[in-house]
Amino acid sequence: MKSVIVAVTGATGSLYPVRLMERLGRMKDVHIHLVISGWAEKVMMEETGKSVNEWLGGFEHERIEVHAHEDLAAPISSGSVDVDAMVVIPCSMGTLGAIANGLSSNLIERAASVTLKERRQLILVARETPLSSIHLQNMLTLSNCGAMILPPIPSFYCHPETVDDIIDSTIDRVLLSLQLSDTHIKRWRK
Ligand SMILES: Cc1cc2nc3c(=O)[nH]c(=O)nc-3n(C[C@H](O)[C@H](O)[C@H](O)COP(=O)(O)O)c2cc1C
Repeated sequence: MKSVIVAVTGATGSLYPVRLMERLGRMKDVHIHLVISGWAEKVMMEETGKSVNEWLGGFEHERIEVHAHEDLAAPISSGSVDVDAMVVIPCSMGTLGAIANGLSSNLIERAASVTLKERRQLILVARETPLSSIHLQNMLTLSNCGAMILPPIPSFYCHPETVDDIIDSTIDRVLLSLQLSDTHIKRWRK
């Protein structure tokens, strides 16, 4: 059983975590810890017209634990809990900057800090454009600490035809990085 933290922050791209959860949720050997920031909830409502509960409510079963953003006493606040990897999707520049500077003022920042200190896999689906030098420096700091910066940039060589195809091209990269695969994954073939 692989244990993955999925953290959702208030950058644009609410459909990315929804799709990641759909695909991870179907993998019988994956346990998910889910944390959603307050701004992620607002952006999700703005972009989809649906609340987080409407989108993600269907996923609450025994393999998915939902933690409150402000709950610094949640199990994933501690390095002693059995977790393999963490994905922040999408990752706002605010949260990315906080992680790069070692802040732990909410559960996403704390869990990311724990992930780095325990030398576990941290994937940041960082979303902003254009990028300032501060954003780039924070990304370099995190990359130097072992985090993977994986911006949601689609690949067009798979000929996406729908928004779902574009979303899936990023989710494929996240799952491959986690060494998890499902039947949706499209790989480049000439
Ligand atoms: C509709 C909308 C879209 C946003 N898109 C982005 C974005 O793409 N990248 C980003 O860094 N912040 C974006 N923001 C700003 C973040 O929501 C804001 O910085 C917030 O404080 C992030 O908090 P969090 O990281 O705790 O979720 C957006 C805000 C709104 C309302």
